[in-house]
Amino acid sequence: MHQFVSPIKILSGEGVLKNIPQELQNFNAGNVMIFADPGIIQAGILSKLEDVLKDAKVSYSIFSDLVPEPPLETGREAVQALKESNADFVIGIGGGSSLDVAKAAAVLYGNEGEPGDFLNLTGSRELENKGLPKMLIPTTSGTGAEVTDISVFSLEKTKDVITDPLLLADVAVLDPELTYTVPPRITASTGVDALTHAVEAYISVNATPLTDSLALEAVRLISRNIRTAVWHGSHEESRNKMAWGSLLAGLSFYNAGVSGVHALAYPLGGLYKIPHGESNAVMLPYVFDFVWPSCMEKMTDLADALGVDASLLSTREAAVSAVQALQEIVRDTGIPQTLDRFGVKEEDIPLLAEEGIKQKRLLQRSPRPYSQNDIFQVYQAAYFGELSLGK
Ligand SMILES: [Fe+2]
Repeated sequence: MHQFVSPIKILSGEGVLKNIPQELQNFNAGNVMIFADPGIIQAGILSKLEDVLKDAKVSYSIFSDLVPEPPLETGREAVQALKESNADFVIGIGGGSSLDVAKAAAVLYGNEGEPGDFLNLTGSRELENKGLPKMLIPTTSGTGAEVTDISVFSLEKTKDVITDPLLLADVAVLDPELTYTVPPRITASTGVDALTHAVEAYISVNATPLTDSLALEAVRLISRNIRTAVWHGSHEESRNKMAWGSLLAGLSFYNAGVSGVHALAYPLGGLYKIPHGESNAVMLPYVFDFVWPSCMEKMTDLADALGVDASLLSTREAAVSAVQALQEIVRDTGIPQTLDRFGVKEEDIPLLAEEGIKQKRLLQRSPRPYSQNDIFQVYQAAYFGELSLGK
């Protein structure tokens, strides 16, 4: 039996922002609280949403005390602000962090307890109520946060998540125009994050024919457009295709799951505060260098979707070529390719491995099981920049 879950409604297309007032009317929303980070306010992106709401005479307030890779404290403050307002609808707009806090706040509004009580690894309580209805609007391509039920929070040494179907958006709104001015480094890190979602979903032990279709199309779209979107950001066609690829990757990984790359990236985010997309990007080739022998056929499909001409290659060569293609994408987008370039210290690798093996929820979806020593080896390869590529 296969199951596929997604938000009930996804609106997508250039300029679709103008349809939001109609959606709010469907929910009888009288007062909206918007969660938006300072970056999108300064970039003038929030004002596009505000203009639409003002034209439709929708009353709203803004919570902008948001930081990247948010700690639990941010979640607590967001819930508090929501409870002190008279809002009856939540809009999250921004990158993954803003959307994550918005969906968690909307649900925790209707439940007793602190955000930490509901964490996947260390929490002790289950969410019972849906809280307020919510709309999620991504401004990067992307985290896929608009179509998942996951909220990620940073802890002292690692990250943990609140995950429950109650966190799913009532409406996800994908307007690629919001991504047209995203600067190169963020385009690169969020784009490689989206690519990571797709390739990890494709090799996941929980993959289904439906998640596979979405993942392969996402890999095609992202691998063909990410370089142009990074280095020629005003190229609208590339931006539109990246937005669409990110959405497909999000739907795919929400159902099939991500695994080793995200599991090993989380301690890097926790200990070194490396942004999510960049911590995934630096680990991506090294994790796939470890995992490819366990999923050869799927790796050859990925090689094809990544644009490798594998017609004259053996299955083994094609699988390895997919690892190389992933490395080339990370390199071409300008993201540092080794852990030392992020300031990671070699003596911390055992601690990183100790934290990495704790991410059981993620690691159990990997087609190749990990021991703590395997994780140590993968971090070490990423530290020294050494891909074995089957040699
Ligand atoms: Fe991610």
